Amino acid sequence: MLDSEEFSKTLHAIMTGFPDRAKNLIATSANLDDDERAILQKAMADAPSDAGVLEAIGDALRVSNSDKTLVNEAYRAAFYNSEQWQSLVDDPFFAFFSANKAGHVLDKWIHYFPIYTRHLTPYAQRPVSVLEIGVYRGGSMRMWSRFFGPDARLVGVDIDPVALISAGERYSVVLADQSDPDAMAKVAQEHGPFDVIIDDGGHSMDQQITSIETLFPALNEGGIYLVEDCHTSYWDSYDGGRGREGTFMEWVKTRLDDLNGYHQEDAVEPVWTKQVDGIHVYDSVVVLDKKMRFAPFAEQNGGADFVFNSRLHSSIASELVATRQAALDERDQAVNGYGELDALRDELRVTRGELRTAIPRLAAVEAELDDTRGQLIDSWDHVREMRKTLSWRVTAPLRRVRRAR
Ligand SMILES: C[S@@+](CC[C@H](N)C(=O)[O-])C[C@H]1O[C@@H](n2cnc3c(N)ncnc32)[C@H](O)[C@@H]1O
Repeated sequence: MLDSEEFSKTLHAIMTGFPDRAKNLIATSANLDDDERAILQKAMADAPSDAGVLEAIGDALRVSNSDKTLVNEAYRAAFYNSEQWQSLVDDPFFAFFSANKAGHVLDKWIHYFPIYTRHLTPYAQRPVSVLEIGVYRGGSMRMWSRFFGPDARLVGVDIDPVALISAGERYSVVLADQSDPDAMAKVAQEHGPFDVIIDDGGHSMDQQITSIETLFPALNEGGIYLVEDCHTSYWDSYDGGRGREGTFMEWVKTRLDDLNGYHQEDAVEPVWTKQVDGIHVYDSVVVLDKKMRFAPFAEQNGGADFVFNSRLHSSIASELVATRQAALDERDQAVNGYGELDALRDELRVTRGELRTAIPRLAAVEAELDDTRGQLIDSWDHVREMRKTLSWRVTAPLRRVRRAR
């Protein structure tokens, strides 16, 4: 394959409008075998524009399994040689990256910037809590500091103590291994909860999976978990491969099924169905939105009944709904009323019992009274008889004198 100097000269010749010079370099390079030369010459011949040639060279190198750096440089040249760069003109992350030439090392895939802008803008310049796994020399932490603003709290995690050097006033760095669940749980306990978690750490399968499984519960409601460089799921050097069991992207595919758990029998997961509101899958980046979901249900609107429905029926239905509570309250009152009635009935029963014992006593008193009355009448008759006697009349003057005294 072309050495790096030949390669740069070839790309530069195409970008500056000298394709013949590039063709000549490819035709004469001693570093190309016949197959490699043929692949590059075909790419140059078929493409409709300079940028197209550069992209075709990148494609040819990629499919022939050439050095990834060469593929990267060919695609990079194609991007800046076409109009595509204009899509990033207004992107705040691209602006920071492009202008901040002397900042701490920042090595980014350019298409991540609009993804950041899309998902992180709701948290910008707010008092949010942000965790980044993978600090390296602090380049991204400085970018986050600027983007999230002075009220944000930023924490970085790295396994390499060199990362500590980059920590400053705006963020702290914790030394921890992201593949150790206990270490991640400790980070969550001591620094969480978080609104944003970004995994740009070691990018191996167990690191990405352990971190998200341990830290996702430490996200606030409405927070996001963003994983970068998920292309390692397809790289041999990371035990990756399309559809290969155990990769992070296979883990993500299971989460897509969990997200739809309500539509399968017995598949509702407490975290991955009930707390994940959306999963966004991009080239090399996955974003999970955390939000407590309600169980999904459908409603129908826009039917003909909107026009033809009888107003009488719908008003009766509304009335029924409106008065239902009142009816329930009335029923409750009636039920309470029954209670009072029962108490009254008991009282009556007691009174009736008392009356039953009082009546015979009353009859006895009445009989006693009759008896007394009879005795009085007899006595009165006796008095009257006595007054008729001669001796009573003879002694009358004597009783008068006694009363006058
Ligand atoms: C790609 S660099 C991070 C770049 C940084 N985010 C930036 O954009 O400037 C990856 C970092 O992850 C760290 N790392 C690797 N394995 C790790 C692990 N198991 N736990 C925590 N950090 C790890 C490395 O030490 C390195 O600093």
